[in-house]
This record gives sequence, C-alpha cells and structure tokens, in this order.
Amino acid sequence: MTTTARVSSRLNLQGAEPDPTEALDIESLQVLQLRRLQWTLRHAYANVPFYTRRFNELGVVPEDCRSLSDLVHFPLTTKQDLRDNYPFGMFAVPPERIARIHASSGTTGEPTVVGYTEEDLDTWAGLVARSIRAAGGRPGHKVHISYGYGLFTGGLGAHYGAERLGCTVIPASGGMTARQVKIIADFRPDVIMATPSYMLTLIDEFERQGHDPRASSLKIGIFGAEPWSEAMRQEIQERMGIEALDTYGLSEVIGPGVAQECLETKDGPHIWEDHFIPEVIDPVTTAALTDGARGELVFTSLTKQAFPIIRYRTRDLSALLPGTARPSYHRIARVTGRSDDMIVLRGVNLFPSQIEEAILRSNHLSPHYQLVRKKDGRMDTLTVRVEGRGITSAEARTHVASSLQDDIKNSIGVTVDVDVLGEHSLTRSEGKIQRVIDVRSK
Ligand code: DLL
Repeated sequence: MTTTARVSSRLNLQGAEPDPTEALDIESLQVLQLRRLQWTLRHAYANVPFYTRRFNELGVVPEDCRSLSDLVHFPLTTKQDLRDNYPFGMFAVPPERIARIHASSGTTGEPTVVGYTEEDLDTWAGLVARSIRAAGGRPGHKVHISYGYGLFTGGLGAHYGAERLGCTVIPASGGMTARQVKIIADFRPDVIMATPSYMLTLIDEFERQGHDPRASSLKIGIFGAEPWSEAMRQEIQERMGIEALDTYGLSEVIGPGVAQECLETKDGPHIWEDHFIPEVIDPVTTAALTDGARGELVFTSLTKQAFPIIRYRTRDLSALLPGTARPSYHRIARVTGRSDDMIVLRGVNLFPSQIEEAILRSNHLSPHYQLVRKKDGRMDTLTVRVEGRGITSAEARTHVASSLQDDIKNSIGVTVDVDVLGEHSLTRSEGKIQRVIDVRSK
C-alpha cells in the first residue's frame, strides 16, 4: 500500500466542507480577483504615503487597473522599501485598528514589521484552516504546533488556523525537544506543523528516547518556513511514517497560508489566488516571465486591510505551474531558496537544497548538514559538513566523503570539500535552520 493509501485509511477525511471559493471556475475567480485588486490599489494609494508617492512617480492611478493584466503597470515593492518605512509606515489603517503586529527576524538590518486588523486576522485564520484541510487535517484532529510562537508568524498563524478548522491545538512552539516527544507520545496528535529541519530533530529525539517514530499517532506533517528538498520529504515520511506536505508563506504577504500542497496530489503548493495574485519575474531585469519559467516570486495581496502589499518581490525562486487538485489556482514549484541564498562557486550557481539531494542519495549520510564558505587565497571554497550514518571505520568515512564529492561534481558540476562527521556532532535545528556559514570575510 502507498503511504497515502495507508494514511488515508487511518484518517477520517469527512467532516470539513471546502471553502466554496476553492472550487470557483477560473472566470469567476478572475472576476473576484479584479474587484479585490481594484479595491487594494485604491486603499493603498489613499492610505499609505509610500504607495501614493510611488504611483505618482510612475504616473499611474488605481483607476488605470481595468483588467488583471494591468497590474504590471504598477510599481514593485522591495524588502528595502519596507525597511525604509520601519516600523509602521506601510500600515494603511489608523493605529487603533491594528489588532496584532508580527515581525521578521531581521538578521540583517531592521526587522520587517507587519500589522493585521481584526478582519485580517479572521482572513488569515481562514486561509490557514483551508491549508490544513487541504493537507488532510479535519475538525477534531489534534494538531501539534512546533513553529515558534512570538513575533514569527509561524506559531500563531498555524494556531488560529487549526482552531478555526475545529481542531484541538497543542501549542508546543519550538525547542524543549525531549518534552515535545513526550507530549506527542502522550497526547497522541494526528497532525504536526513544524519546520522540516525541526521535524528531523524530533525524529532523532524519538529514537534517542527509545520510541519508534513510526509507531507515533502522527499521520500528517505540514512543513515549511524554510527550503527543503523532495529527498527530505522521503526521509521524513519513511522515518516518521507520515504524509509530509509542503506549506509556503511569508510574513510580508500574510504569514503561513499563502500556498498549500494538497494531500491528494502532493505536487507543490497551490496559491490561494482569491487572496494573493502571484507573478514570476526575472530577478535581474524584473521582466515578467511566462508560466513554467523559473524566476522570482512576486505577490500582491487582495484582501488585506492593515498591510496591503503591491507586487512584493519575495526573492524566493520558483515557477508558476498549472493547478491540479484545485484546478483554478496555480501551483508553485518547490522553492529552492531565496536569491540571496544562492551560492555562486567558481561560476556555478547552486542552492543548499541541491547538496541536500546529493547527501540523501547516500545511505551512509544523515540529513544533518552545514555548508561552510571560505576563501583559500583568492579562490572561494565550499565545505560540506555532514553527519555520517552507521560509519564504523576511518576508511569507510573517507570512502563516503569521496563518493559524495563525486556525486556533487557529477550532478551540480562543482568541486566541494566534504567532511563526514560523527553522529550528533552538528547543532540541531529548533526552528528555521541556517544551512550556510560564511566565514569569507572573517
Ligand atoms: O516563514 C511563514 C511560514 C510559517 C511559512 C510557517 C510556512 C510555515 P517568514 O519568516 O517571513 O515567514 O519567512 C518567509 O521563508 O520568503 C521563504 O524564503 C521561506 N519559506 C517559507 N515557506 C517555505 C517553503 C514564514 N515551503 C520565507 N519552502 C519565504 C521554501 C519557504 N521556503
């Protein structure tokens, strides 16, 4: 039996009626989008001085949007624009209407601050509820949430969505992994929501405590907030005995709940286009790309009151694909990472997820890895530090390292150094993991 068939037979998939807009035909969806887009443009232009100025500079007014294809005439918005308006300059409603504030971690420069009205929180909860249902979650399921609670949108976003769907929520947040494993064993949740790297931390902890992860009550995992590969999906599914689904979102657009992979097809997240219009552009020229071409994802919100966002450049690289399980909605191809995560090594572009794929092709390597960028004279180097699995001799370790080096050379076309480490030597993820350590300027 396939994992899907096995899990479906254990799950009661009845009892949650889909949101009717999920089944809209494409024409009706577009009518709805245009009405909402025109409202958003008017709202942003009238209430956010930044947009008033930008529209004026480009010589456009909201009334110039007569069809969806007119959106390209409006200005793009960047993360720098949000930083320049720190903290509340992009808000489009009076302060007393802001019911919640979240912020991105801001590892470089000012954090990005986003706000929600009561209605925005309601919209958001509805979108996350829809996403959990698309992944197979149902009212009455217990949902264990390991996304961090706080300024990060993951924890609270997932929380209110799961509650909205009628689930029993276990708000575990990130960290205290040993305790989380006990809670999962004792409370018997059906669904887990976590970063994929933290799920691996939990699986290791299950094993360390002597529990068989596959015997846990969990049936569905909804994973996102960081790039992960198809090979990582297989690893998690096999070791945990669950269905692993991809969920995509970002705080600037709403948080989790922008796009969700459906259980029945598991072929990439569908974007909830009744609330967000996606575009893909060339990250260098900003020219629009056609469906199927890889480039930078750009989103425009359609219903947000406090923080409308027009043509926001996510820096996430992906492609728009036709809908399957929700035929009127585009899917996105797996997000390989942000354009700023791309490593250019001696002229070859690569993403950590490509290295991850190569690592997971070996039975002797674990999915715990780190990439260290160094400078050797004038040459940039990349060292893959990865934990071995069941390696008992120094010869075997050398052999595994050189096999990975060959695989990366053959599949990506670049020579890297490989350090195969002992088991449990790398720090475990507790949320979003940092894969790349750059020591070139140090
Ligand atoms: O990570 C929102 C979220 C929470 C999404 C929980 C999914 C689950 P930010 O902290 O603003 O918001 O980070 C957003 O994370 O631009 C991507 O680079 C990355 N990201 C999010 N989901 C995925 C995914 C949340 N499924 C940034 N695959 C985004 C790859 C992802 N990258």
